Amino acid sequence: MGRPTESSTLTNSLTVRDNRTGKVYDVPIVDNSIQATAFKAMTAPAAPGEREENETYKGLRVADKGFLNTAVIRSEITYIDGDAGVLRYRGYPIEQLALHSSHLETAYLLIYGTLPTKPQLSVFEAEVSHHGVIHADAEQFCRSFRYDAHPMAILTSAFSYLGSYYGEANPSLQGQSLYTKGDAASLSIMDKQIYRLIGKATTLAAMAYRVRQGREFVTPPTGLSYTGSFLYQMDHLGEENYTPNPVLEKALDVLFLLHADHELNASATTVLQTGSSLVDPYSAIAAGCASLYGPLHGGANEAVIRMLISIGKPENVPAFIEAVKKREKVLSGFGHRVYKTSDPRSFIVRKTADEVFKITGKDELLETAMALHEAAMKDEYFVKRKLAPNVDFCSGLIYRAMGFPLDFFPVLFAVPRVVGWLAHWRQMMLQEGGVKIWRPRQIFVGASKRDYVPIEARPLVDGPKKTPSAIAHSGITKRTMLASFKGKVVPKL
Ligand code: ACO
Repeated sequence: MGRPTESSTLTNSLTVRDNRTGKVYDVPIVDNSIQATAFKAMTAPAAPGEREENETYKGLRVADKGFLNTAVIRSEITYIDGDAGVLRYRGYPIEQLALHSSHLETAYLLIYGTLPTKPQLSVFEAEVSHHGVIHADAEQFCRSFRYDAHPMAILTSAFSYLGSYYGEANPSLQGQSLYTKGDAASLSIMDKQIYRLIGKATTLAAMAYRVRQGREFVTPPTGLSYTGSFLYQMDHLGEENYTPNPVLEKALDVLFLLHADHELNASATTVLQTGSSLVDPYSAIAAGCASLYGPLHGGANEAVIRMLISIGKPENVPAFIEAVKKREKVLSGFGHRVYKTSDPRSFIVRKTADEVFKITGKDELLETAMALHEAAMKDEYFVKRKLAPNVDFCSGLIYRAMGFPLDFFPVLFAVPRVVGWLAHWRQMMLQEGGVKIWRPRQIFVGASKRDYVPIEARPLVDGPKKTPSAIAHSGITKRTMLASFKGKVVPKL
């Protein structure tokens, strides 16, 4: 903790001089990090004219919009070196895992920390598969969505809905230490929810898919791999001995493994933020799913294809690149908060794409994608900003070649990411010292105290962003506003 000092006695420390007071503080450095709370000890009287809301007497605050350099947890799960293009799950390079492991084996590794033995893996796979079956009422739930509902809206709601079945797994009902005790009973309840969430993720996703296709639902089969079962649940139409194509099953498994975790991305952070209130894991996973849906995160694979369709053909690439440089467009599938070189997963995705294209044929957008890739990689704008392809740049092309609808792509990201979310959630529940609720600070720059003004005495405040905007009404509303009727007050719009 930072405290005033005359001179530094610690070598592994930061010496901070507060020029407002002349005080010097020693802040210990541990694991190349300093505690933000050390700055809270650095208090000062308010400078002349300083806003009281700055609360200088309560200590310095650390500002970090968008979490550019704030470590919120100690983790043993995933390591990324964004400059070198390195990604390791529990120490194992992603390239080795993609070559030798499977999604469920990697799930075990991410969640429990070591590669499983054969019997451990069989138990894990069997439990996940066993917990894939869903209550029959879920059919009604899924059917209650409109025919054109985005499958991510269905999946996000479905995770939350799922939690309503398991009162015994809900800390709000069973006591807040349900998952933090770390004793055998608590761990067993925790692991059961992990099996349920991984097992039912594919079932719910397949249901979201079949609702849209107007198909009956399929009970999860036995004896197939995780992705084999997922493909079966989406595609089986009653044929005898229906078996998904093994190349597609394997490709999907590799893509699932690559998407299983990625350190503290927006959705994993959302799961931890939500989980820090000790809410049940179903609600936390639903929150993660909602976060992943956005176009800056898991929605990017869908956005890449929409972008490629809008570009149309390789000849239109230069004009598109110019529009990006003028900030009229965004090059989806490029850039990353952490990677300042190519995302290591993008190379494996490209190799996997070749395997898939061998049996499905090439996607017609591939040439445009390659032209875009080439143009961006040698353009000064992208080179200077270290913008390189991320995992989403190619994954959408595989999903398209495999025949998945565009808006299903984020689902194909969310389903495997359930594993990573659970690994982080479990780690946080069991961390030393217990769970601390995540409650960040703000820098308040709003109005200082002022007195309520009666409506007749208020000055007019007008202008964009300062008052509600005029909204466009549909033809139906316009028509009904022209009608006259009794018994209902027509609102003045
Ligand atoms: N196209 C054009 N310019 C870009 C792009 C892009 N895809 N990404 C970043 N830039 C520019 C920014 O405008 C900024 O330029 P400036 O310094 O002149 O203002 C500079 O590069 C730095 O970018 P930031 O926005 O500060 O980077 P940040 O780390 O905040 O954002 C993000 C990362 C959201 C991934 C961003 O690169 C982006 O929007 N990419 C496109 C969406 C995408 O592919 N998302 C998937 C991410 S991977 C995943 O979730 C699996």
